[in-house]
Amino acid sequence: MRIQLSSDSPLAIDADLLVVGIASTSKRSVDVDKIDRALGGSLADWWKDEGFEAKPGQVSKLPARGRIKARWVVFVGIGGKDAVADARGLAHAATKASSRQKSAALVLSEVNVESVRAAAEALATGAYEYTTYKTGDRKPKGGLSKAFLVGADPKSSELKAALKAGKVVAEAVNLARDLVNAPPNDLHPVTFADIFREEAEKLGLPTTVWGKKELEKAGMNLFLAVNRGSAIEPRMVHVAYEPEGATQKVAFVGKGLTFDSGGLCIKPPKSMDTMKCDMAGAAATVGIVLAAAKLKLPVAVHAIIGCTENMTGAAAYRPGDVFTSLDGKTVEIINTDAEGRLVLADVLAWTRDTLAPDLIIDHATLTGACMVALGNYRAALYTADDELAKAYDAAAGAADEKFWRMPLDEDLRSTLDSSIADLKHVGGPYGGSITAALFLKEFVGKSRWMHLDIAGPAFLDGSHGRMPRGGTGFGVATAVRYLESLAGA
Ligand code: BES
Ligand code: MN
Ligand code: ZN
Repeated sequence: MRIQLSSDSPLAIDADLLVVGIASTSKRSVDVDKIDRALGGSLADWWKDEGFEAKPGQVSKLPARGRIKARWVVFVGIGGKDAVADARGLAHAATKASSRQKSAALVLSEVNVESVRAAAEALATGAYEYTTYKTGDRKPKGGLSKAFLVGADPKSSELKAALKAGKVVAEAVNLARDLVNAPPNDLHPVTFADIFREEAEKLGLPTTVWGKKELEKAGMNLFLAVNRGSAIEPRMVHVAYEPEGATQKVAFVGKGLTFDSGGLCIKPPKSMDTMKCDMAGAAATVGIVLAAAKLKLPVAVHAIIGCTENMTGAAAYRPGDVFTSLDGKTVEIINTDAEGRLVLADVLAWTRDTLAPDLIIDHATLTGACMVALGNYRAALYTADDELAKAYDAAAGAADEKFWRMPLDEDLRSTLDSSIADLKHVGGPYGGSITAALFLKEFVGKSRWMHLDIAGPAFLDGSHGRMPRGGTGFGVATAVRYLESLAGA
């Protein structure tokens, strides 16, 4: 979508839709009054007739019939208390209110850096649709392709930067969604790695792709154990964005299970049908590093994704098997459906030893238990670092994503003790998201580290607010905000 700043007045702007926020039908803004006069002064009657009460998200769409330059006026109920939330609501409503209309002009209740960024991001993510596999007439024609932010000075360098940030983040979110939505027969470890390499090389970012041979040579036996049942090779991809003068290095690690059947401990069909989403952590990781590079953030950002399928082939790993991790610890396999932590264990250890970053953040659709605890619109956040948890929470607020800090409860650590090996990879019946995090913790050593279990919000059966059905791109926007906060510090 093309999004532009415009200093044209609401009545004069040339767009299919003029989209205006309204907090209350009785106390109206100057803009609403102006539009009412131009349309003939009967808005109050129309709304009464229609039952439009300007409740947040409620929409009233009227034809302008040549009385103003735009073809339609769309009034959108907004809270009226938070300019950023209003901008998001307005933008989202604009993408949903367009049927055959291609362009929209948004009248923001307040023009500033944050509202412009929020509007741009919400416009570009709100217009998202996954249409790759629809053919012929069944392919949707696509909604809005052009938007204007009215009253935003196109010459303001601050607003231009905010617009760009919104667009870049939205692009990264939408790319993550595309990757998650892609069917697992087409998006498998090999093709996923190719796409990541291609996108990284477009930006000139150094990229390394590892296959089975390299993983074997390094000794990443936990990662390889998961891959044993699959007919497709695993891939580990490392992309580095290292701007000159960066004083901090953050490494993002992503779980990239392009399909999780559960392996020999096979999932029931109802739990398996969405398991193409099990690479959403890796997809977010891809989006984050590309966005950081496009925004030229002054922080070094590394992205490492571990990609494989978890299948049931003749060579599949079994409950009872023991493998030696890259770290040297032996791990007894309990349930082959707890595969993500095995892949991550080796990738985390590799990241710690090879890159020695100041901070490691992993994104993973790791446990169903996390969804039991927090529902499917919120991710779990684990870290021992209170300051980091606080800073990430602030970033999430700005990005309009929801996390909840969970405890790395040492009380549960003994559930990972094995009678024959150093560790087992699954704990007891309770606290499944916590014990998964405790397992990962064994492989990060003394590194500063945060684990984000995004099993809930990464993929949705139906849309919820601004989150679409299918892949959501969850995690990207918060991570970018967090990196920006480091840059400002
Ligand atoms: N990929 C799943 C977790 C998951 C579930 C993600 C639902 C998204 C939606 C993970 O690999 C898994 O199967 N975890 C098991 C662990 C258990 C066997 C200890 C689970 O949560 O049931
Ligand atoms: Mn699994
Ligand atoms: Zn999984």
